[in-house]
Amino acid sequence: MTKKKEIVMSGIRPTGFLHLGNYFGAIRNYVKMQEDFDCYFMVADLHSLTTHPDTKQLRANVHRVLAENIACGLDPDKVALYCQSHVYETSELYLYLNMLAYTGELEKTVTFKDKVRQNPDNINAGLLTYPVLMSADILLHRAKYVPVGKDQEQHLEIARTYVNRFNHRYGKVFPEPYAFNYNQELVKVPSLDGTGKMSKSENQMATLYLADEDDMIRKKVMKTKTDGGPTEINSSKPEYIENIFGLMKLVSSEEVILKFEADYNNCTIRYGDMKKLLAEDMVTFISPIRSKINAILDDKQYLKNVMEKGAAKAGISAKETMKLVRETMGLDY
Ligand code: TRP
Repeated sequence: MTKKKEIVMSGIRPTGFLHLGNYFGAIRNYVKMQEDFDCYFMVADLHSLTTHPDTKQLRANVHRVLAENIACGLDPDKVALYCQSHVYETSELYLYLNMLAYTGELEKTVTFKDKVRQNPDNINAGLLTYPVLMSADILLHRAKYVPVGKDQEQHLEIARTYVNRFNHRYGKVFPEPYAFNYNQELVKVPSLDGTGKMSKSENQMATLYLADEDDMIRKKVMKTKTDGGPTEINSSKPEYIENIFGLMKLVSSEEVILKFEADYNNCTIRYGDMKKLLAEDMVTFISPIRSKINAILDDKQYLKNVMEKGAAKAGISAKETMKLVRETMGLDY
């Protein structure tokens, strides 16, 4: 018999368009993990209700996030790819965990304090218990590894606290979940405006989205900041030039990069040529993904099938866990 694979779980918020930073930061990790682990990847549609109670956009956003992740290589036949709201056991576990969650602790969570500041008119209890719901997502599959960014680590710490409280009070059911990423340091994709990393920023011109049309990609790349070039051989690069090289390293060939490195070092670099090449390599990289996204979005029946299959797979694991939870809590009368 083959050894049982370890369990991985993560949630993806259905908010808008994925960009190159998401691709190299998160999705590539998921795609690699699907080979090595038993993976549950979930669209966090219930979480989005905490800040976006209006559901008009939700269907389109859920479809888009599924299409984008599948187009990037997530295989719904290998992983359980599902919607949070389709697995009702989540809500039951969320309720039990709420009894182990102290409001004082939740009020101190950084993400909660941020959201209160951003959204002072809608400080609902769901927002406060956001980490409890996230813990339920993870514990529902008794997952050990959770591929997430730094901003989610406090939530994982909270999940571990509930694991320990539950296991101690009722009996050992859950393992402690930990953040997991393949590369020691997540690949940072630099922003096109010369500073920081690519993000879902206010400045959409500094971010390359997987949905961007070819001409938009070219336009964004050509707009990146450069200067007159180095005047002394082997000088160090300013951040905005370093960033252009950084972007090149993601999509261009080794040969091309070495050529421009050499040109930089002997002060013959032509940034216009460099950006043109980068733009074309970006187009070559992004456009097949964009086409795949659009083809998937056009096939609503396929998306429905993916969600149904995903919910069925997640449901098996969820039902097993919840049976154990009820028994362990003594609710099996
Ligand atoms: N809170 C996560 C985010 O903002 C999304 C999420 C919801 C999640 N449930 C999860 C992540 C479970 C990991 C595991 O990105």
